[in-house]
Amino acid sequence: MAQKIALGGRLFASALLLSACGASPSALEPQGPAAREIAGLWWWMLGLGTAVGLFVLGFIALALFRRRSGETAAHPGQAGHPGDGQGWIIGGGIIMPAVVLTGVLGLTLWSMRAIAYTAPADTLVVEVIGWQYWWEVRYPDQQVVTANEIHIPAGQPVTVRLTSVDVIHSFWVPELHGKLDMTPGLTTQLILQADQPGIYRGQCAEFCGVQHAKMALLVIAEPPEVFAAWVAAQAQPASAPADENQQAGQAVFVDGECAECHTIRGTNAAGLGGPDLTHLGSRTTLAAGTLPNTPEHLAEFVGAPQDVKPGNLMPDPELSDGDLTALLAYLGSLE
Ligand code: CUA
Repeated sequence: MAQKIALGGRLFASALLLSACGASPSALEPQGPAAREIAGLWWWMLGLGTAVGLFVLGFIALALFRRRSGETAAHPGQAGHPGDGQGWIIGGGIIMPAVVLTGVLGLTLWSMRAIAYTAPADTLVVEVIGWQYWWEVRYPDQQVVTANEIHIPAGQPVTVRLTSVDVIHSFWVPELHGKLDMTPGLTTQLILQADQPGIYRGQCAEFCGVQHAKMALLVIAEPPEVFAAWVAAQAQPASAPADENQQAGQAVFVDGECAECHTIRGTNAAGLGGPDLTHLGSRTTLAAGTLPNTPEHLAEFVGAPQDVKPGNLMPDPELSDGDLTALLAYLGSLE
């Protein structure tokens, strides 16, 4: 039964991924309540900005026309009394901006209040921690740690707590919510909710170093039963090596420098400086959205991480070809 759900979940995820191919996320195509509120505010501001712009352009056109007709500067004698135009200066320069900007402030405060609510106490909590240049994702109540992918049940609010270990990053999933900075030493939170199952791409939105552009994440919203099966699978320790080659690869990992930064639950590898790799094979991408998670790309990244993502903290490995092959076989087996 559990296997059936897991298989169903994987098929579902593949179907979603296919349908999401080529789509770039837009804050103007909101897929959740918070993003809808923000998109609404954006349209209001566009409307007001357009109205003000047309109003000003209209007066510029009028001024040009009057000047051409020679009613003002060319015939000073026909100009109006001193003080003429003062009403326009006060009305157009003080009163109108005050009214428009107060309106915009009111709309903005309204939207901020609408999205800054606290979710009910039994809401799922996800902690997202920014690193140069990837996202640590923890489910504290479920004892799950993963990276660069946030699975959530669709149609339900989820409390996302944000912080950073190094520099300021910014969490932004345009279809689901506005940006929120991730600041070292400070934990902030937002309520993430996706109306429908789907894959929603997020991106670090604060320049954080050379690989800022390659710091992407996916929010994967699933039907609640698929999400529950995912959590149950992720809470398990890693599967044991299935053959001698994988066994050798595990030894390379655990006894070598990989384990200094990475954890694989169920082994002695317990490093905390890089992504938890216990269920690496279940993820859609490698290196925070940089590459699709296929055996070829895994070999490409692990073989030369500084070529794929220069400046990231993972050094190029100093391994013999045999050790690297075994390591890749082992990593590929971590479903
Ligand atoms: Cu992290 Cu930009």
